[in-house]
Amino acid sequence: MIPEPHMTSFDPAPLRPTLLFVDDDEKILRAFARLFRGSAIEVHTAHGAAAGLEILERQPVQVVVSDLAMPEVSGSNFLRQVRDRWPDRIRILLTGEPGIDAAVEAVNQAEVYRLATKPWNNEELRATIEQALDYYVLQTEMARLARESEAQSRSLCITNSELLELNQKLRGETRRRRAELSEKQSELRQTQLGILRALAEAVDAHDPYTRGHSERVAVYASKIARELKSETDFIERIYIAGLLHDVGKIGIADSVINKPGPLTPEEYARVQEHPEIGARILAPIPFLQDVVPCVRHHHEWYDGSSRGYPARLRESEIPLPSRIILVADTVEAMSSSRPYRAGLPLWRVTEEVRNCRGTQFDPAIADAFLRIIDREGERFIERANRFDLEEFLSEDRFGR
Ligand SMILES: [Fe+2]
Ligand SMILES: [Fe+2]
Repeated sequence: MIPEPHMTSFDPAPLRPTLLFVDDDEKILRAFARLFRGSAIEVHTAHGAAAGLEILERQPVQVVVSDLAMPEVSGSNFLRQVRDRWPDRIRILLTGEPGIDAAVEAVNQAEVYRLATKPWNNEELRATIEQALDYYVLQTEMARLARESEAQSRSLCITNSELLELNQKLRGETRRRRAELSEKQSELRQTQLGILRALAEAVDAHDPYTRGHSERVAVYASKIARELKSETDFIERIYIAGLLHDVGKIGIADSVINKPGPLTPEEYARVQEHPEIGARILAPIPFLQDVVPCVRHHHEWYDGSSRGYPARLRESEIPLPSRIILVADTVEAMSSSRPYRAGLPLWRVTEEVRNCRGTQFDPAIADAFLRIIDREGERFIERANRFDLEEFLSEDRFGR
């Protein structure tokens, strides 16, 4: 079949099937031209190899048919030159009565597509030429696909390497941003802690005897949380909740807070309001939302008895930080001097914790505290300085 002219993405010119026929015999050339008259195939004829090369230089020929026996340059020599200069052109050698040697030479030297014989059969020769043209189209198409595929894989490689580079840039940028964010978060945390400490100190300043109470409760509670193998975030939350646990005392009259003697039932009822007042103070502060319930319930008793307040929650109903703070709060209050009594010795404090294990205190938390005291003794009280989470955790890592 003769290929129809068509467009390809790589060759925008219509591909008109074009032939070159080379022979030293004019009659043969004319006979060949007649063979394709009226067809879609464009036929060029050349008298000898030199003329044939000239045409090839100017015309987009796809199939070259050459006579073998020509006086100046043999057909196989001519087709070899065609192969060297235009390797994609399909080559057909036309011979009289070819000997085997001549045929082998032609095939080897010129890599011809086909050998055709003279005198030819019109139908056979036309069929051979058409097959050659089809072969050319197929070969061109294959080459085009190979080029496209190569270009695609090349562009894919470029895309991949660009992606890789982009990815690396992104990773670097993400690392940098994360470091910045972490630094900012750390700054913010320090600022927040500073504000919270100032607030706690302001609360404690109401009563000269409780100065530093909140900070110490926060540190004790953090140590107990660490003993309970809590996560870092939780330890920090415990510290903040400890720092703020008595913030509601700011709403209680100084005369009651600072009263040296025992409180009247009314005064005691006022004091018992401080966890609720504290929760109301902290509730509007977004970053303290998870601290609010810890503050509200820091005076609940583990057994749910009426001695606990404000909600008489029991056991696991009481937020864990509140249960921890209750132990820390009691320990700090007992071991500190008050206007009406001196600070109690540590053995008295631990005895109280042991006695109230399971009633006032969560047994697991009381046990954690007692384990720390077994290990640290008086140092537990003495070392309750300012809290620094990183330092605190690194102390933990190096076994205190
Ligand atoms: Fe309290
Ligand atoms: Fe307290």
